Amino acid sequence: MKKFSKLNVKLKDYSYPIFIGENLISEIMDLIPKFEDYSKIIVITDKVVLKNLFQSYKKIERLSKKKFFSVTLPSGEKTKSFQHLQFLCEKILKEKIDRDALLICLGGGVIGDITGLTANLLLRGVDFIQIPTTLLAQVDSSVGGKTAINSRYGKNLIGSFNQPKAVIISTETLKKLEKRQVISGYAEILKYSLISDKSFFGFLQKNGKKILSLDTATIIKTIKVSCKIKSKIVGKDEKEKGIREILNFGHTFGHAIESFTGFSKKIFHGEAVILGMYLALKLSNYLGLCDTNIINKFCIHLNELKIPYKLRDYKIKISPLNFLKHIKFDKKIKNNKMKFILLQDFAKPVAYVVKDENILNNFLEKNLF
Ligand SMILES: NC(=O)c1ccc[n+]([C@@H]2O[C@H](COP(=O)([O-])OP(=O)(O)OC[C@H]3O[C@@H](n4cnc5c(N)ncnc54)[C@H](O)[C@@H]3O)[C@@H](O)[C@H]2O)c1
Ligand SMILES: [Zn+2]
Repeated sequence: MKKFSKLNVKLKDYSYPIFIGENLISEIMDLIPKFEDYSKIIVITDKVVLKNLFQSYKKIERLSKKKFFSVTLPSGEKTKSFQHLQFLCEKILKEKIDRDALLICLGGGVIGDITGLTANLLLRGVDFIQIPTTLLAQVDSSVGGKTAINSRYGKNLIGSFNQPKAVIISTETLKKLEKRQVISGYAEILKYSLISDKSFFGFLQKNGKKILSLDTATIIKTIKVSCKIKSKIVGKDEKEKGIREILNFGHTFGHAIESFTGFSKKIFHGEAVILGMYLALKLSNYLGLCDTNIINKFCIHLNELKIPYKLRDYKIKISPLNFLKHIKFDKKIKNNKMKFILLQDFAKPVAYVVKDENILNNFLEKNLF
C-alpha cells in the first residue's frame, strides 16, 4: 500500500477521514473498507475531467467491477442548477439503486457540490465520497460538507450540509490543471495562512513557487496543512453559526466581484478572493484595525509569484456605488448589515459590521482601483 497522510474531520455525531497522497485512486478498496459491500458504485464527473483523468476513471471502473456506472455532466458553474440536479437524480434512479449505493464525485468543486446534494436527496440519503481534482476542491470545497446548487437569485442558495464518508486527495490528478485554476486554489491556501497560521504564511513565502509548479512533496504538505486548518474550524462549527465565518475572509468583496462579472471566466472564484483579501486588508487598515505591515507582506508575496491582486489587473472597472450594490446582494448580508471578516494581524480575524454605508463608500472611492 502507498504512503499517505490521514486526517480526521471530527464532528459532533461522527468523524471521517481525509487521505492525502499521490496515486491513491488505485488504493480505493483499502482506503474505503466498506467498498466491496456497496450495491452500486456511481461515479459522477464532468466532461473535462473525464478527458483529462480518463485513467483514474477507468481505475475506479475496474475496481468496482459490475457494480459500476457513471454520469458525466457538462463542465462549469452552470452545472450547479435544478435542471442538472434533476437529470443526475433521474439518471441514477433509472439504475434502480438502493440505500447501499455509493456516489463518488470525481471532479472539482462544481461536481463535488452537486454530488453531495444529490447523495443527500436520493432515497433520503446515500453514502458519497469525494475525490477532488482541482486544487481549490482539494484544499477547500471537498472538506466541510457544504453542498449546493445555484439559483437565479444567487450562488449556492439551494443546498444542505452533508458530510462525505471520506475524502481521497490524490495529487497527481492536478497535473493537467490550467495554471489559473492552480492560482485559484492557492487563494484559499493563502487565506488559511492569513486567518489562522503565521508560520504557514512563512512556509508559503519560501515555497510559493514550488506549490504553483505542483512539486509533489510541497503540494502534499500544503494540502495537509490547509485541510487541517479547515477541518479544525469546521469541527468547531459544522453549520456555520459562529467561528466558521472566518473562512469568508476576502469573500464578501470577492463575491461582489464575481457577481459583477456574472460568475464568468473573466475572473475565477479564487482570483476574486485574492482581490477580495487585498481589499479586506486595506479596509482593516483604513478602519485602524491593523498596520500596513501585513498588507506589505501580502503584496510582496503575490508580486513575487506574479499573481495579480488588483481590479485593474483584470481590467475590471466598477463604481463604488455599483460595488456596494453587489456587496449587499451577498447571502451572508443579514438585515442589511454589512459584515466583513477583517484582520487585526496574522491569525487574528475579526467579524466587523460596517454600520455607516458612507464609510464604506469613502473607502471604496480611495481603494477600488
Ligand atoms: N462546498 C464548499 O464548501 C465550497 C467551497 C468553495 C467553493 N465551492 C464551489 O466550488 C466551485 C468551484 O470549484 P472549482 O474551482 O474546483 O471549479 P470546477 O469544478 O468548475 O473546476 C474548474 C475547471 O477545471 C476542470 N477540471 C477539474 N479537475 C480537473 C483536472 N484534474 N484537470 C483538468 N481540468 C480539471 C473542470 O472541468 C472545470 O472546467 C464553485 O461552484 C464554488 O461555489 C464550494
Ligand atoms: Zn472560497
